[in-house]
Parts: sequence; structure tokens; C-alpha cells
Amino acid sequence: STFFHDALPLKGKKALVTAGPTHETIDPVRFIGNHSSGKMGFAIAEVLQQLGAEVMLVSGPTALKTPEKVQRHNVTTAQEMLTQVEQHFEDADIVVMSAAVADYTPVEVASKKIKKKDEVFTIALRKTTDILATLGAKKLAKQTLVGFALETDNELENAKGKLARKNLDYIVLNSMQDQGAGFAVDTNKVTIIGKDLHTIELPLKSKKEIAKDICDIIADHQLAKGE
Ligand code: CTP
Ligand code: CA
Repeated sequence: STFFHDALPLKGKKALVTAGPTHETIDPVRFIGNHSSGKMGFAIAEVLQQLGAEVMLVSGPTALKTPEKVQRHNVTTAQEMLTQVEQHFEDADIVVMSAAVADYTPVEVASKKIKKKDEVFTIALRKTTDILATLGAKKLAKQTLVGFALETDNELENAKGKLARKNLDYIVLNSMQDQGAGFAVDTNKVTIIGKDLHTIELPLKSKKEIAKDICDIIADHQLAKGE
């Protein structure tokens, strides 16, 4: 009946979710990282599972507990995340890239702890592979591909640019301008933009509530494919 169908709209679907930061190794005791807590991505993994999906969570370094019945694979660097994500991509019906992937990584990893010496010290960095753009370029017809955007200015325009450039179905814009939104807190203020540029501005609410809204949109998108 319709009732049971609606209770688990993602039953039989596979989801791949990334979360947390990446840590780019400088030497045996140091890395370049960022303030991502992983809370948003873990909440999305949890809700997708609750909607019936089989969920693989690829997580950077976080202090979070794995949501119930979610499979988890831990990674450290952007390169490791790319390798893991590519391994699970073709199987996935839903891919949500909420990790805060480092844009640059040290050209060389020092094998020993770097000693202090000069007054000014420079580390050469190389661009990492854009994981999401790589996935977007080979997106399958069955897939719903969702990315995030963190912007401090020109927010909507920049997010729409990423949506098109990375061939996404939806982009979730994180505003850094609102109080109560961002890294360590449990609340967030996001705007969800679809491929057709239809835009939903959500009010400030908990990351779990935002995850529910995002996952409802994903479930509708998947359902529309089956019709
Ligand atoms: N992303 C990715 N691989 C990278 C960098 C980013 O998959 N090497 C993904 C993020 O997970 C996110 C989306 O791309 O879903 C947008 O990330 P964001 O940092 O906002 O944008 P960038 O494209 O990296 O551009 P910039 O940081 O210069 O704004
Ligand atoms: Ca970036």
C-alpha cells in the first residue's frame, strides 16, 4: 500500500555520503586541516538510512559516532577520500558530498619532523582533485548528485556556478553570515538550489532538521526517476 511505500521511500537504494574535513600531511606530526565537524554529513547519512537506503559514509577525521546501520570508511587525506568515493560511486543511486575537502595539499610530505630555522617559512602546495567535479563528469542517469558550497560573499551566484560546473542535481549553500550557522554549532542556515535553479531558503534550524529537508528532496528526485 501507499502507506508502507512512503514510510521507506529509499528502500532498495544505495547512498554514498562524505563528511568531515580532510587532513593533508605536512610531516609526521603536522597537517593542514579545516574546522568541519562532520555533523551535517553524519546527520544526512543517518536520515538516508532511516528513509530505507543502504548507506556508505566516507568520513574524514571527526569525533562523531557512526549512525546506526550505516557502513563507515575512515579516510584522512583528499586523495584517500577520492579513492574510496570512486570505489563506491557506480553502485550508488544517491551521492551527497558534504565533506570539506582540502583544496590544496603539500607538494612534498617530509619524512621527519620539520625543524624551525628561518624566520619566514613557505610550504609549496598543489591543488587536490575536485572529487565532486570528477563524479559530476561521469554521473549516471539513475543518480542524484548533491554538493555543498561554503561562501562568504556573492553567495547565490557562486553556488549556482558550482552547481553548473560540477553537473549537480542540487547544491546546499551554507551561509557563513548568519549567527548560529557554521562549523561547531548544531544549527545551520542553508539554501538549497536545484539544477533548474529553483531555490529554497530554509530558516535557521538544527542540522538534523536540515538533513531531513535535504533527504526529502533527494527522495522525491529518486522517486521521479522511477515514474
Ligand atoms: N569538493 C570536492 N573536492 C575538492 C573540493 C571540494 O569534492 N577537492 C566538493 C565539496 O565537498 C563540496 C563542493 O565541492 O561539496 C564545493 O566545495 P567548496 O569548497 O564550497 O567549493 P570549491 O569548488 O572547492 O571552490 P572554492 O573553495 O574556491 O570556493
Ligand atoms: Ca574549497
